[in-house]
Amino acid sequence: MPRVVIFDETGDPDVLHIVEEPIADPGAGEVRIRIEAFGVNRLDQMARAGASPRPIRLPHARLGIEGTGVIDAVGPDVEGIEVGDAVMIAALPDADVRGAYADYTVVPVTAVVPRPPGASAIDAAALWVSYSTAYGALVEKAGMRPGDHVLITAASSSVGLAAIQIANQIGAVPIAVTSHSAKKDALLAARAATVIATDEENVAEAARRHTGGVGVDIILDSVMGPGLAELATAAKFGGTLITAGWLDPRPASFPVGALTIYRYMSFEHTLDPVVVRRIAAFLSAGLRFGALKPTIDKVFAFEDVVEAHRHLEKGQQIGKIVVTV
Ligand SMILES: NC(=O)c1ccc[n+]([C@@H]2O[C@H](COP(=O)([O-])OP(=O)(O)OC[C@H]3O[C@@H](n4cnc5c(N)ncnc54)[C@H](OP(=O)(O)O)[C@@H]3O)[C@@H](O)[C@H]2O)c1
Repeated sequence: MPRVVIFDETGDPDVLHIVEEPIADPGAGEVRIRIEAFGVNRLDQMARAGASPRPIRLPHARLGIEGTGVIDAVGPDVEGIEVGDAVMIAALPDADVRGAYADYTVVPVTAVVPRPPGASAIDAAALWVSYSTAYGALVEKAGMRPGDHVLITAASSSVGLAAIQIANQIGAVPIAVTSHSAKKDALLAARAATVIATDEENVAEAARRHTGGVGVDIILDSVMGPGLAELATAAKFGGTLITAGWLDPRPASFPVGALTIYRYMSFEHTLDPVVVRRIAAFLSAGLRFGALKPTIDKVFAFEDVVEAHRHLEKGQQIGKIVVTV
C-alpha cells in the first residue's frame, strides 16, 4: 500500500508519522506523480511546528511543497504531458492536502514543470523551491543586473546558495553573510565573492568596506528579526532590500530611509505560468552550462523523515536536505 507522511497535531518532528493509504485517481486537469525524492523546506518545518503563514487543515495534514518524480496517471482534459514524463512540482500552496512527502500525490497539471534533462532525482528535489525563490526575488523583483553587489544573508541555506550561483550566472557580485564563521571556507568554495560572518564582524561595516564605502545594490535577507534595520544600512543610497524569510522569529525592525523594500513570497511567481516558463528556462540554461548546481547537505531515507526534520532544526546544514522515496 502507498505511504504518506501525515501529522494530526502541530509540534516537534515526532508528530510526523507514516501511514498507508490507497492512491487517488487524478481528476480533470490533474496528474498523479510517483514521487522519487522531495526537498525538506523551512516552510514544511513551520507548518509542522504550528507557525505556518497559511492555515493547515488538521488532523491528517500532509506535508511537502517540493518534490520530483514520474507522471503515473493523467486525468481528463490534460494535454502536453504523458505517463512516464519526469517532472518537478512548481507550486503547492495546498501542501497540507497534496503534500509531496509520499509515494504519490495528485496535483493540477499547471503545478508541474519538466525535470531538466540530465538532472538526477536528488538534484531535482533540491532545485525548484530554492532556485525559483532566489531567481524570483533577485531577478524578477529586485531587477539584479551584471555588476550589482548583492548581500545574501543565511548564505548556507539552500536559498542563499542558489542566490550566490544565480548572482554569478548573471555577472553580479555575491557577498555571503553567514551566522557561523566555520562555514566561511565552504561559502567561498560555493563561489561567494567574499564572506561576512556575523559571529566575528559587523555586517554593515564589512559590506561598506567591500564596496569602497558605497554600500551594496541589493540585500536579499531571509533572517529579518530585530537586526533588520541595522542590516539595511549595508545598502547604498537608493538600494533595494528584499526579504524572503524570517528565520529569526522575533519581531523585525523595518528600516526607514531611501531604500526600496519588498517582502517576497515565491507563490507570486510560481503560480504564474508565464513566469514559471521563464524560471524553468533560466534554470535549465544554468544547469546546462554548469553555472547552477544544487548543493545537497544530506540525503535521508523515507522512513527517516523525522530525523530529516531534526537535522533541519539544528541549523548546521550547508544546502538542501533531501529525502528519497
Ligand atoms: N519567500 C519565499 O517564497 C520563500 C521560499 C522558500 C524559502 N524561503 C525562506 O528562505 C529561508 C531559507 O530557507 P531554506 O529552506 O533555504 O533554509 P534553511 O536550510 O532552513 O536555512 C538554514 C540556514 O539559515 C541560516 N540561519 C540564519 N539565521 C538563522 C536562524 N535564526 N535560525 C536558523 N537558521 C538561520 C543558517 O545559515 P548560516 O549559518 O549561513 O547563517 C542555517 O544553516 C527561510 O527563511 C525560508 O522560509 C522563502
